[in-house]
Amino acid sequence: MIRPIIAGNWKMNKTIAEAVGFAEGLKAALKTPPAREVIVAPPFTALQAVAQAFRGSAVRLAAQNLHEAPKGAFTGEISAGMLQEAGCTHVIIGHSERRTLFGETDDRINRKLRAALDASLTPIFCIGELLQEREAGETEAVIERQLKGGLNNFTSGDIGHLVVAYEPVWAIGTGKTASPGQAQEVHRFIRRWTADRYGKETSAELAILYGGSVTPKNIAELLQQPDINGALVGGASLDIDSFVQMIGC
Ligand code: PGA
Repeated sequence: MIRPIIAGNWKMNKTIAEAVGFAEGLKAALKTPPAREVIVAPPFTALQAVAQAFRGSAVRLAAQNLHEAPKGAFTGEISAGMLQEAGCTHVIIGHSERRTLFGETDDRINRKLRAALDASLTPIFCIGELLQEREAGETEAVIERQLKGGLNNFTSGDIGHLVVAYEPVWAIGTGKTASPGQAQEVHRFIRRWTADRYGKETSAELAILYGGSVTPKNIAELLQQPDINGALVGGASLDIDSFVQMIGC
């Protein structure tokens, strides 16, 4: 049985002071350890301060990106080791904003996933189709291409150390959520695809999150789907009341 995961992706939002204020509020609101695994992904600048604020709580910390090299002349980039040192246990990799705005390819994402695993960080590996791809009936082909490329040369042992997030690009930040049925269909496809390649047991234990306009209103129905093991939430994770509601729903 997979413990459901609620992860908040703050994107480029919140100053250090705002992030720490949120973390302290969340820690106070989650007096007893939550039944769900809670992960928060602040911007790089707030990671260390937020890690300190969460100390002694069950909340886990994720970064939103990394560079695949351990160190070197890569101006503006951050390595997996640096994230670990700052207190991260997880890292979001291959988010559609990284793919579309920053040109990340499946091959690059594959190297980033490997770098995260090598540093004992749990990657939250994002995949998802564009609206025109869905309308052209290409959803499964796109998902398969992203899985194949991103997970190239991965063993079932590697798969056991990562989380997948299905985020249809047309649902991110648009207020258009995939219906629970539409989301479940793709989650089931991912479950079967990973079972075929990595074995049923590994696939059954793989947490597959849904992301794309998740809110306190629609989260319960999404999480009732058999292959949806949690949510990666953007906009609705920025407000503490709404985030706490989603953790407890
Ligand atoms: P959203 O973002 O919840 O604002 O749609 C989700 C994400 O990008 O991870």
